[in-house]
Amino acid sequence: MEFTKSSENNIDKLVSCLPRENICGLPFCQYNGTWFLLYHIPGVISSQQLFQADESDIIIAGLPKCGTTWLKALIFSIVNRNRYQPKESPLLSIHPQILVPSIEMDHFRDGLPQNIDQLSRPRIFSTHVPYAFLPNSIITSNSRVVYACRNPLDALVSSWHFHNSMMKHNNISGQLELIDEFFDKYCRGVQLYGPFWDNILGYWKASVEKPESVLFMMYEDLKEDSVFQLKRLASFLGFPFSAEEEALGLIQEISTLCSIGNLQNLEVNRKGVYYSIVPLASFFRKGEVGDHVNHLTPSMIETLNKLVEEKFAGSGLVF
Ligand code: A3P
Repeated sequence: MEFTKSSENNIDKLVSCLPRENICGLPFCQYNGTWFLLYHIPGVISSQQLFQADESDIIIAGLPKCGTTWLKALIFSIVNRNRYQPKESPLLSIHPQILVPSIEMDHFRDGLPQNIDQLSRPRIFSTHVPYAFLPNSIITSNSRVVYACRNPLDALVSSWHFHNSMMKHNNISGQLELIDEFFDKYCRGVQLYGPFWDNILGYWKASVEKPESVLFMMYEDLKEDSVFQLKRLASFLGFPFSAEEEALGLIQEISTLCSIGNLQNLEVNRKGVYYSIVPLASFFRKGEVGDHVNHLTPSMIETLNKLVEEKFAGSGLVF
């Protein structure tokens, strides 16, 4: 199907009828059950129609603030390790968000595909859309999908900091949101690419049904034993580490290169802005497990834990 001017007009018409909410002053709308930033809708719809996957593609999926930047750095390093030694990695001069762009927010941002043909194989893409929104060619081509998942309480706190740091950076302090307000929306599922339970469960089920195509990675597991998880990740991607590489310490080297301590201190990740409004530095904050206790009240924690229990009951997924 050809994405044309009339498709754009149809999208405008569609968007005007959708339910709306604001988060930190930004307009969101609910399309087929998922909350999107209004400006992302054309990219979501056009990429669904037009993106052509091939079987060597790697798709990094996950809700924002669940460790997708980390996975971008790790996966890029794993699959390109024969092209670049860690000491000469492009990560030293290019922010992971730019090195691994998003399908819907970058490549299809304005409706038509951009900067896809010249990508070297295997192509690495990222996406935040739910599994049910993935372009059909990703499912049918058996591209490998790696899903970044994180404890929803930590993800909430991370998102709140991210939204507010963007507002502060742009001097829109009138739009800063108190955590109570943000929390209330999050519990109602009103969040970027949420509700979180639908996004997580879609990929979780796919990973159980098709473990050869969808790998579910927990942020907390990566923090706890990065070497073990990197081996698991590399094998899934079809780029397993050899015993020799392991003995030479390459896995540890990649883990150190991609650690938050290293990436957040690189000049390239400390300055600059993504799409005019998002400071590139805001993709790196604390990178800790359990930070929600520092920002949520005990009653908020109890409420959200109950919601998580209820939403994930019977799925086999435990946080
Ligand atoms: P915090 O805000 O809790 O620190 P995403 O990349 O999906 O947007 O997720 C951002 C979260 O991952 C932030 O969490 C950020 O600090 C953390 N993060 C970014 N790079 C990381 C890395 N290399 N290792 C661990 N955590 C990282």
